Amino acid sequence: MSLSIEPMKFCHVDAVSEIEKKVYPTPWTKFAFINEIIDNGFASYYVALYNKEVVGYAGIWVVLEEAHITTLAVSPKWQGKGIGKALLQHLINEADSKGAVRMTLEVRVSNLKAQELYKKFGFVVCGRRPKYYRDEDALIMWLEKLPVRKLALEHIN
Ligand SMILES: CC(C)(COP(=O)(O)OP(=O)(O)OC[C@H]1O[C@@H](n2cnc3c(N)ncnc32)[C@H](O)[C@@H]1OP(=O)(O)O)[C@@H](O)C(=O)NCCC(=O)NCCS
Repeated sequence: MSLSIEPMKFCHVDAVSEIEKKVYPTPWTKFAFINEIIDNGFASYYVALYNKEVVGYAGIWVVLEEAHITTLAVSPKWQGKGIGKALLQHLINEADSKGAVRMTLEVRVSNLKAQELYKKFGFVVCGRRPKYYRDEDALIMWLEKLPVRKLALEHIN
Protein backbone atom coordinates (compact mmCIF):
# COMPACT_ATOMS: atom_id res chain seq x y z
CA MET A 1 0.00 0.00 0.00
CA SER A 2 1.25 3.51 -0.64
CA LEU A 3 0.34 7.16 -0.45
CA SER A 4 -1.94 8.49 -3.15
CA ILE A 5 -3.12 12.02 -3.79
CA GLU A 6 -6.60 12.40 -5.25
CA PRO A 7 -9.13 15.16 -5.81
CA MET A 8 -11.11 15.92 -2.64
CA LYS A 9 -14.69 14.67 -2.82
CA PHE A 10 -17.75 15.15 -0.66
CA CYS A 11 -17.07 11.76 1.03
CA HIS A 12 -13.69 13.02 2.32
CA VAL A 13 -15.01 16.16 4.00
CA ASP A 14 -15.78 14.64 7.43
CA ALA A 15 -12.22 13.28 7.75
CA VAL A 16 -10.73 16.53 6.43
CA SER A 17 -12.75 18.49 8.97
CA GLU A 18 -11.49 16.29 11.82
CA ILE A 19 -7.88 17.03 10.84
CA GLU A 20 -8.70 20.70 10.32
CA LYS A 21 -9.98 21.00 13.90
CA LYS A 22 -6.79 19.41 15.24
CA VAL A 23 -4.28 21.56 13.36
CA TYR A 24 -5.79 25.04 13.05
CA PRO A 25 -6.89 27.36 15.87
CA THR A 26 -9.66 28.78 13.65
CA PRO A 27 -10.73 25.78 11.54
CA TRP A 28 -12.75 26.02 8.35
CA THR A 29 -16.23 24.55 8.62
CA LYS A 30 -17.32 21.50 6.64
CA PHE A 31 -19.54 23.85 4.67
CA ALA A 32 -16.51 25.91 3.66
CA PHE A 33 -14.82 22.83 2.18
CA ILE A 34 -18.02 21.70 0.47
CA ASN A 35 -18.50 25.15 -0.98
CA GLU A 36 -14.94 25.17 -2.28
CA ILE A 37 -15.13 21.77 -3.99
CA ILE A 38 -18.62 22.25 -5.44
CA ASP A 39 -19.03 25.95 -6.16
CA ASN A 40 -15.60 27.52 -6.68
CA GLY A 41 -14.51 27.06 -10.26
CA PHE A 42 -11.06 28.49 -9.52
CA ALA A 43 -10.40 26.01 -6.70
CA SER A 44 -8.77 22.58 -6.70
CA TYR A 45 -8.57 20.52 -3.52
CA TYR A 46 -6.78 17.23 -2.93
CA VAL A 47 -6.54 14.61 -0.21
CA ALA A 48 -3.56 12.44 0.65
CA LEU A 49 -4.78 8.88 1.25
CA TYR A 50 -2.83 6.15 2.96
CA ASN A 51 -4.59 2.79 2.88
CA LYS A 52 -7.79 4.76 2.14
CA GLU A 53 -7.37 6.87 5.31
CA VAL A 54 -7.35 10.64 4.77
CA VAL A 55 -3.98 11.70 6.22
CA GLY A 56 -3.72 15.20 4.75
CA TYR A 57 -5.20 17.67 2.31
CA ALA A 58 -4.36 20.81 0.38
CA GLY A 59 -5.96 23.33 -1.93
CA ILE A 60 -5.21 26.04 -4.46
CA TRP A 61 -7.02 28.70 -6.39
CA VAL A 62 -5.66 29.32 -9.85
CA VAL A 63 -6.57 32.65 -11.43
CA LEU A 64 -4.86 33.36 -14.74
CA GLU A 65 -1.11 33.03 -14.12
CA GLU A 66 -1.26 32.99 -10.33
CA ALA A 67 -1.91 30.14 -7.96
CA HIS A 68 -2.77 30.80 -4.34
CA ILE A 69 -2.35 28.02 -1.78
CA THR A 70 -5.42 28.22 0.44
CA THR A 71 -4.67 25.34 2.80
CA LEU A 72 -2.19 22.53 3.42
CA ALA A 73 -2.38 20.23 6.41
CA VAL A 74 -1.34 16.79 7.57
CA SER A 75 -2.96 14.85 10.42
CA PRO A 76 -0.78 15.26 13.54
CA LYS A 77 -0.06 11.54 13.82
CA TRP A 78 1.11 11.46 10.18
CA GLN A 79 3.34 14.53 10.27
CA GLY A 80 7.08 14.29 9.67
CA LYS A 81 6.76 11.47 7.13
CA GLY A 82 7.01 13.45 3.90
CA ILE A 83 3.26 13.84 3.30
CA GLY A 84 3.40 17.66 3.46
CA LYS A 85 6.13 17.61 0.81
CA ALA A 86 4.12 15.23 -1.38
CA LEU A 87 1.03 17.46 -1.15
CA LEU A 88 2.99 20.62 -1.89
CA GLN A 89 4.70 19.01 -4.89
CA HIS A 90 1.25 17.97 -6.12
CA LEU A 91 -0.08 21.53 -5.79
CA ILE A 92 2.91 22.87 -7.70
CA ASN A 93 2.40 20.32 -10.47
CA GLU A 94 -1.32 21.08 -10.68
CA ALA A 95 -0.74 24.85 -10.70
CA ASP A 96 1.80 24.38 -13.47
CA SER A 97 -0.55 22.20 -15.51
CA LYS A 98 -3.33 24.80 -15.14
CA GLY A 99 -1.08 27.52 -16.58
CA ALA A 100 0.11 29.28 -13.43
CA VAL A 101 3.61 30.68 -13.55
CA ARG A 102 3.86 31.77 -9.91
CA MET A 103 2.41 30.73 -6.58
CA THR A 104 1.75 32.52 -3.33
CA LEU A 105 0.50 31.79 0.19
CA GLU A 106 0.17 33.27 3.65
CA VAL A 107 1.69 31.57 6.67
CA ARG A 108 1.69 32.45 10.37
CA VAL A 109 4.86 34.23 11.47
CA SER A 110 5.24 31.61 14.23
CA ASN A 111 4.77 28.61 11.89
CA LEU A 112 8.44 27.87 11.26
CA LYS A 113 7.74 24.26 10.29
CA ALA A 114 5.52 25.27 7.37
CA GLN A 115 7.89 28.07 6.38
CA GLU A 116 10.75 25.54 6.19
CA LEU A 117 8.64 23.31 3.98
CA TYR A 118 7.80 26.15 1.59
CA LYS A 119 11.41 27.39 1.48
CA LYS A 120 12.50 23.89 0.53
CA PHE A 121 10.48 24.26 -2.67
CA GLY A 122 11.85 27.71 -3.46
CA PHE A 123 9.23 29.96 -1.86
CA VAL A 124 10.64 33.20 -0.48
CA VAL A 125 9.19 35.68 2.00
CA CYS A 126 8.08 38.83 0.15
CA GLY A 127 5.96 40.67 2.69
CA ARG A 128 3.90 40.64 5.83
CA ARG A 129 0.17 41.13 6.44
CA PRO A 130 -0.40 42.61 9.92
CA LYS A 131 -3.03 40.73 11.97
CA TYR A 132 -4.03 38.59 8.98
CA TYR A 133 -5.05 35.85 11.44
CA ARG A 134 -6.53 38.35 13.91
CA ASP A 135 -4.17 37.11 16.65
CA GLU A 136 -1.02 37.05 14.51
CA ASP A 137 0.67 38.49 11.42
CA ALA A 138 1.11 36.47 8.23
CA LEU A 139 4.19 36.25 6.09
CA ILE A 140 3.49 36.37 2.36
CA MET A 141 5.59 33.89 0.41
CA TRP A 142 6.01 33.62 -3.37
CA LEU A 143 7.39 31.02 -5.69
CA GLU A 144 8.27 32.44 -9.11
CA LYS A 145 8.82 30.57 -12.34
CA LEU A 146 7.01 27.26 -12.08
CA PRO A 147 7.76 24.42 -12.36
CA VAL A 148 10.47 24.04 -9.75
CA ARG A 149 12.83 21.15 -9.28
CA LYS A 150 11.06 18.09 -8.00
CA LEU A 151 12.27 16.93 -4.63
CA ALA A 152 12.92 13.26 -4.09
CA LEU A 153 10.29 12.13 -1.63
CA GLU A 154 11.19 9.66 1.06
CA HIS A 155 9.19 6.53 1.57
CA ILE A 156 6.29 6.94 3.94
CA ASN A 157 6.88 4.90 7.10
C1 LIG B 1 3.25 22.10 7.80
C2 LIG B 1 2.81 20.65 7.58
C3 LIG B 1 1.80 20.61 6.45
C4 LIG B 1 4.04 19.83 7.17
O1 LIG B 1 3.61 18.51 6.88
P1 LIG B 1 4.53 17.23 7.21
O2 LIG B 1 3.93 16.06 6.53
O3 LIG B 1 4.74 17.14 8.68
O4 LIG B 1 5.90 17.68 6.51
P2 LIG B 1 7.00 16.73 5.86
O5 LIG B 1 7.19 15.52 6.71
O6 LIG B 1 6.67 16.54 4.43
O7 LIG B 1 8.27 17.68 6.03
C5 LIG B 1 8.47 18.71 5.12
C6 LIG B 1 9.48 19.69 5.61
O8 LIG B 1 8.89 20.49 6.64
C7 LIG B 1 9.94 20.90 7.52
N1 LIG B 1 9.67 20.33 8.82
C8 LIG B 1 8.96 19.23 9.13
N2 LIG B 1 8.94 19.06 10.48
C9 LIG B 1 9.64 20.09 11.00
C10 LIG B 1 9.95 20.51 12.31
N3 LIG B 1 9.53 19.82 13.38
N4 LIG B 1 10.67 21.65 12.46
C11 LIG B 1 11.08 22.37 11.39
N5 LIG B 1 10.81 22.02 10.11
C12 LIG B 1 10.10 20.91 9.92
C13 LIG B 1 11.22 20.35 6.98
O9 LIG B 1 11.77 21.28 6.08
C14 LIG B 1 10.72 19.12 6.23
O10 LIG B 1 11.60 18.70 5.24
P3 LIG B 1 12.73 17.57 5.59
O11 LIG B 1 12.00 16.41 6.17
O12 LIG B 1 13.32 17.28 4.25
O13 LIG B 1 13.65 18.23 6.56
C15 LIG B 1 2.22 20.03 8.88
O14 LIG B 1 3.13 20.23 9.94
C16 LIG B 1 0.89 20.58 9.30
O15 LIG B 1 -0.16 20.09 8.86
N6 LIG B 1 0.88 21.62 10.14
C17 LIG B 1 -0.38 22.18 10.63
C18 LIG B 1 -1.11 22.95 9.54
C19 LIG B 1 -0.21 24.02 8.95
O16 LIG B 1 0.48 24.73 9.67
N7 LIG B 1 -0.28 24.16 7.59
C20 LIG B 1 0.46 25.17 6.88
C21 LIG B 1 -0.38 26.39 6.79
S1 LIG B 1 0.44 27.69 5.89
